[in-house]
Amino acid sequence: MSLAQEISKRRTFGIISHPDAGKTTLTEKLLLFGGAIQEAGAVKNNKIKKGATSDFMEIERQRGISVATSVLAFIYKDKKINILDTPGHKDFAEDTFRTLTAVDSVIVVIDVAKGVEEQTEKLVSVCRMRNIPMLVFINKLDREGKDAFDLLDEVEQKLGLTVTPMSFPIGMGYDFKGIYNIYESNINLFSGDSKKNIEDTLAFDDVNSPELEKIVGSTQANALRENLELVQGVYPPFDKDAYLKGNQQPVFFGSALNNFGVRELLDCFIDIAPTPRPKKAEERIVEPSEKALTGFVFKIHANMDPKHRDRLAFIKIVSGTFERNKPYLHVRNNKKMKFSSPNAFFAEKKEIVDISYPGDIVGLHDTGNFKIGDTLTEGESLHYKGIPSFSPEHFRYINNADPLKAKQLNKGVDQLMDEGVAQLFTLELNGRKIIGTVGALQYEVIQYRLEHEYGAKCSYENFPVYKACWVVPEDKNNEEFKEFSRIKSKFLAKDKRGQLVFLADSAFSLQMTQQKYPTVKLRFTSEAEL
Ligand code: G4P
Repeated sequence: MSLAQEISKRRTFGIISHPDAGKTTLTEKLLLFGGAIQEAGAVKNNKIKKGATSDFMEIERQRGISVATSVLAFIYKDKKINILDTPGHKDFAEDTFRTLTAVDSVIVVIDVAKGVEEQTEKLVSVCRMRNIPMLVFINKLDREGKDAFDLLDEVEQKLGLTVTPMSFPIGMGYDFKGIYNIYESNINLFSGDSKKNIEDTLAFDDVNSPELEKIVGSTQANALRENLELVQGVYPPFDKDAYLKGNQQPVFFGSALNNFGVRELLDCFIDIAPTPRPKKAEERIVEPSEKALTGFVFKIHANMDPKHRDRLAFIKIVSGTFERNKPYLHVRNNKKMKFSSPNAFFAEKKEIVDISYPGDIVGLHDTGNFKIGDTLTEGESLHYKGIPSFSPEHFRYINNADPLKAKQLNKGVDQLMDEGVAQLFTLELNGRKIIGTVGALQYEVIQYRLEHEYGAKCSYENFPVYKACWVVPEDKNNEEFKEFSRIKSKFLAKDKRGQLVFLADSAFSLQMTQQKYPTVKLRFTSEAEL
């Protein structure tokens, strides 16, 4: 098969949602359709559920929180689907942001009763900034929830999207009769049988036919007709081009738990979702169809197999083919590297592959060469647009709690930061190390991993910081910058990349600093552009 054919087969996407909206359940049902797992209704089955949540770390098992981000791939109707799993827990939001740099589209899951929730807002705003095509799946229609039109309004207003319903529910909760699929012109009747695997649909292209009364009763039939008329009057028709540009978001309704509306979502998805997209590098835009390999690291995962303490760097292939044992340039290190056992992912398994294509994710065993954002090429000095760091929310000093293990602690902290678990700041004044995280839970993860993976012990001490801001002086030699550096020396630190950071202790002090030193620009992300 030619490179172009391989590319046209691939769909690489992520599912994003607020925790508990049904992301895991939907992922599982999608895998069922791909034949990648065998059991229907397996959500109650812990084993499969753990598999689908990509639970590789012990701490995750202990807490039942999806810490990891990994890849689940399957074939459906001749398409190779790669789902990049994202942790739902808000303390791991940065992990999810990074994963969003590797997806070509996303599916947003919303709970019909809860509507748009906080985590969904944050994640969708990142997708909007990057113009990522989005499909919306409103889940749990088997339960009482908000009115469909109110929900569509909420999605438009809170998420800033322009929606177009592709399906519409007939009733809800106790009265839930099924879904009218506008995209396919058919009706899918709800049976409430959670073990049901493949759905039967009824072709129905004329909702004015009296047959509708026979199927769903006259009240629901009339309501559906009115609703569809309203949909037609209020919402723009589906426009594939607008969807692909991130300007329109098709909406589906269903119940992942009952495997209802999932097939429609998947069928439409493979029809309209983008194939691997071109990607902007600092130097130029790279097309997937280019012959030479390029790819970048978006995730580093440690300890996938507790028996072998290894790290796996996840590379998204942007162009060309990735071949086993072929030398590639690690651009940041300016070093050629060969990989004898690149991993591909299939359902919950990983296996060694000889060749991978744009859109695919390859897992490379790593002994500490890779950092998030690193680029691999066939020789070109290419740098994919960086993945920005956001200001952490929490800051603590990290202290060595076992003087004999200082080396292990430093190595562990270094490697965990390369993985992007948290951000490290080194104070300019005294060299003390500060760990910044998005959520307090990460401190426990770090402590646990340092102890179990590196044999090092640490303790924390509070360090009151309101926000970390990256410092961009207009001119390092100007008097204003020199004064800023002198007066604020207690609050200045270097991040992992050696960039200067101002750790403001309050909103007031941040504001005062900005006013006093206008030529010293303070940024809330490590890079100007997403
Ligand atoms: P998440 O990954 O987004 O965090 O959500 P997850 O799929 O784990 O689903 C959260 C809860 O919502 C689960 O119940 C799940 O069974 C339920 N759920 C998912 N889809 C539907 C649906 O379509 N209808 C209904 N009624 N419930 C749904 P749980 O009790 O928290 O977990 P479990 O014991 O069922 O595993």
